[in-house]
Amino acid sequence: MKILAFESSCDETAVAVVEDGRRVLSDAIASQADMHALYGGVVPEIASRKHVEAIAALTEKALADAGCTRADIDAVAVTYAPGLIGAVLVGLSFAKSVAYALNVPLIPVHHVRGHIAANYLAFPELEPPFLALAISGGNTLIVDVRDYTDMVILGATRDDAAGECFDKAARVLGLPYPGGKPLDDLAKGSEGGVYKLPHAHVDGAPLDMSFSGLKTAVVNLAHHEEQVGEELDRAALAKDFAQAVSDTLVPRVMEALKQTGYKTMAAAGGVAANSVIRGDLERACEKQGCKLYLPPLKLCGDNGAMIGAQGYYEYLAGHTAGMELNAYATRDIAD
Ligand code: KG4
Repeated sequence: MKILAFESSCDETAVAVVEDGRRVLSDAIASQADMHALYGGVVPEIASRKHVEAIAALTEKALADAGCTRADIDAVAVTYAPGLIGAVLVGLSFAKSVAYALNVPLIPVHHVRGHIAANYLAFPELEPPFLALAISGGNTLIVDVRDYTDMVILGATRDDAAGECFDKAARVLGLPYPGGKPLDDLAKGSEGGVYKLPHAHVDGAPLDMSFSGLKTAVVNLAHHEEQVGEELDRAALAKDFAQAVSDTLVPRVMEALKQTGYKTMAAAGGVAANSVIRGDLERACEKQGCKLYLPPLKLCGDNGAMIGAQGYYEYLAGHTAGMELNAYATRDIAD
């Protein structure tokens, strides 16, 4: 079954063709990051407009790259939530019109379910149940993936997402948007251990997380050093910050593995590209005797193929929608 999949929830317009949920036939992406970098973050109105400009030509490219014609497409999958509402609406409206014109089923896909499904593309043997750590620009979740479309949140951030926190820390370090990757690169130049940063705990919810205090601490530290005229050890701060995020995430994931009894876990989302987090997960999973799936870097960030992968399993579960399908800025992954 060939699915034409659309993703437009943030600043990447992405269209892919995926066969049977596991085989990527094409994965076309138009990133707007350079445009938003001028403003130091995503400007929602610009994001929507850029999606409108890119999506039709990108669809033609995805079909051509896959060696497909429109007649080969069996269904259309699309991110319908969560994300910047205007941006999601562009992809959703376009996908609806394609599904209607081709007279094929329309499959709504939750964006974070898509991130988790990126692992199915990279690892043919991976099947639920397993534990997932989904860490992206807008979401930070520890998820019990009981089945392809049956998920339960075990832990979540109470405030900022991990990626949001990386982007803010990067900004105060003078790095360009999106800052996660440049901060990761900068951190490689230091052993760290210079700056003491807070690690928050949520009372009564040991698997939940909080990143806003860490974010504020980095901002205050940078401003303080500037005010007193002291030179910031930028590489050390980048390393200590990444380590603080990892120290928040990894022990909770390990605890969730113990609680569920799972011996398999998968990471997902843009922040899963982080080298400190990847290294810590590798060591912790090895110690705990768990099989760890870390998607290749290009499948960590937003892409259309992951929506096609999850879309296949949503379709098998009977989750299709009519033309009344709406977009949502927020939506629980379990819904
Ligand atoms: O998954 P994604 O592409 O978009 C969302 O669904 O949100 O994630 C984007 C986030 C950004 O915050 C970006 O700075 C972060 O992932 N990111 C990283 C790295 N690469 C991307 N964060 C830390 N280390 C990285 N190497």
